[in-house]
Amino acid sequence: MKLVVIGGGRMGGALIRGLISSGWASPSELGVVEISEAQRDRLEGGHHGLATFRQYDTGMSNDVVLAVKPQDVEMTCLGLADKSIRRVLSVVAGVTTATLESTLDPGTIVVRSMPNIPALVGHSAAGITRGTLATLEDLDWASGVLHSVGKAVEVPEDLMDAVTGLSGSGPAYFFLVVEALVEAGIRVGLDRETAIVLARQTFIGAARLLEETGESAEDLRIAVTSPAGTTAAGIAKLDELKTRESFIAAVISATQRSKELGEQS
Ligand SMILES: NC(=O)c1ccc[n+]([C@@H]2O[C@H](COP(=O)([O-])OP(=O)(O)OC[C@H]3O[C@@H](n4cnc5c(N)ncnc54)[C@H](OP(=O)(O)O)[C@@H]3O)[C@@H](O)[C@H]2O)c1
Repeated sequence: MKLVVIGGGRMGGALIRGLISSGWASPSELGVVEISEAQRDRLEGGHHGLATFRQYDTGMSNDVVLAVKPQDVEMTCLGLADKSIRRVLSVVAGVTTATLESTLDPGTIVVRSMPNIPALVGHSAAGITRGTLATLEDLDWASGVLHSVGKAVEVPEDLMDAVTGLSGSGPAYFFLVVEALVEAGIRVGLDRETAIVLARQTFIGAARLLEETGESAEDLRIAVTSPAGTTAAGIAKLDELKTRESFIAAVISATQRSKELGEQS
């Protein structure tokens, strides 16, 4: 077995899907430890040859992904004691490498990451940080796992709250923009269905342009904004209403909240 994923919920399930569909591993090379029988049945049904287990046992892969909820981390790590775990990639929000290292057996290599919800469709943006024992090779291994569901960028651990504020919470900011555009479309006379189709497709199209051209957001915006044209009028209104500053404030607030939640736990 190449890897065991502990916690086969939304994020663990997305990783399993990504690892199989990207060819990182075949279903028979992966294992999932999951306490919910319903989840185990769903995962086995979805991936022919994937083995699921009620608990981790020595002899499964000693490389592990930890994908349980933050409140389940301590109990889960206690269950991993004396089981010869070598390396852990955690996707658990808000739990530091120091906490993981002190909860797992001494000597366990820890890499921590913060992916986001588009992992469900293979387009996650993740920050990744190394624990005290993790080498560049361990980072490569963890990046390889995360690349099966999107992109991963290394950051120092004290910037994981910033990652949470930007890309962790980021999908919700963009959903809010789409909601607002739909409302705007209705306000200027379109029916709801038409406004939804146009707003969603505009958003997807803009994202694809960013991805496929590799040009900066600023260059693309300037290229589509003719002087004194319609887009210029729209952007001028956004500037007047301090939209840019609002997004910056939102990311700062989310980062601050992530710090507070980390201090409380
Ligand atoms: N979803 C996201 O977008 C996202 C983004 C970034 C980070 N994360 C992180 O990913 C982690 C998982 O989130 P999620 O949304 O995937 O949660 P989830 O859907 O609740 O999945 C967690 C799964 O782990 C199971 N579990 C709990 N304790 C266990 C144990 N000791 N051994 C094996 N399985 C156990 C849970 O079973 P029960 O439900 O029966 O307890 C549940 O099926 C969280 O720490 C979260 O912070 C998630």
